[in-house]
Amino acid sequence: MENKRKILMDCDPGIDDAVALALCAAHPEAFRLLGITTTMGNVTLDKTTDNALRLAEYYGLQVPVAAGAAGPVVREPKTASDVHGANGLGNVQFPEAKNKPVPKHAVLFLYETIMELPAGEKVTLVPTGPLTNVGLLLTLFPEVKERIEAIVLMGGSASGGNRTSTAEFNIYVDPEAASIVFSSGVPIVMCGLDATSLCGLDRETAARLSEDPRPVVQKIGQMIAFYFSCAVYRGGPIAATHDAVTFMYMLHPEIFTTEKMPVSVDCAYGETRGMTICDRRKWAFEDRPLVTVLTGADGKRFQELLVESLETLAERLG
Ligand code: RIB
Ligand code: CA
Repeated sequence: MENKRKILMDCDPGIDDAVALALCAAHPEAFRLLGITTTMGNVTLDKTTDNALRLAEYYGLQVPVAAGAAGPVVREPKTASDVHGANGLGNVQFPEAKNKPVPKHAVLFLYETIMELPAGEKVTLVPTGPLTNVGLLLTLFPEVKERIEAIVLMGGSASGGNRTSTAEFNIYVDPEAASIVFSSGVPIVMCGLDATSLCGLDRETAARLSEDPRPVVQKIGQMIAFYFSCAVYRGGPIAATHDAVTFMYMLHPEIFTTEKMPVSVDCAYGETRGMTICDRRKWAFEDRPLVTVLTGADGKRFQELLVESLETLAERLG
């Protein structure tokens, strides 16, 4: 049996979702991508789905794309086009996709793909957007839980938010779905802001890649360079490619620090909406599910490995 991780990626591309997908595409020796599902988040569902189709083809990935939730389970949709640009990819243009989305909802696509796995095989879910599709999947079809090796997600924080002072964007958008995921009992790796804020490209590297003669490197450099024009990153040393930490953790866990602890989600409507409550009180763990929380990262090594992977992808695409 192949020792590659079987992957289903649920995303809202989204500049850093695009970088995460490139990292996955650069390492076919480690990942077998079974499909991509999309949700609203950084931009509306029509744009995240079109972006996923364009990116998959541009990266040479022959995988199905299924569109999912156009909005959260309960709350009003909230997007982040101020950070990701009107088209969701820093206004960098990718060729129009030839393929269309599969004619079924992402949740059904995830369910059927997981249940069709050969006996004994499991899949790793990699959500990098709001958790609406995954929360619906686990609610409608709980039988998939035993076929999921882990959920390696970008979201949350043990030390303050980015969408608000307390909540990270993906969790903030759909707290109810996130609460379903974190309380599901499925093994979870939370790639939260404590680590992802340290991982990305510095200005010089983003500028260098933006001028690279290899198209895929150039486009990704240009997307990340767009981040620096946004208030979030304007004064900072790096532009964080949050979502790429999911695949980088699976490739190089040694560059991250982690702690296991229970995590719950605040589904209030007040100032702490979407806060991931990370409980470090070991005496209070009892029989609560423990989440592997990324608490830190070697940002310099992350950048080196990311650039190496982008160059590997460029070589493969020719
Ligand atoms: O907080 C960062 C997360 O929100 C990333 O997934 C980014 O793409 C946005 O969705
Ligand atoms: Ca995302």
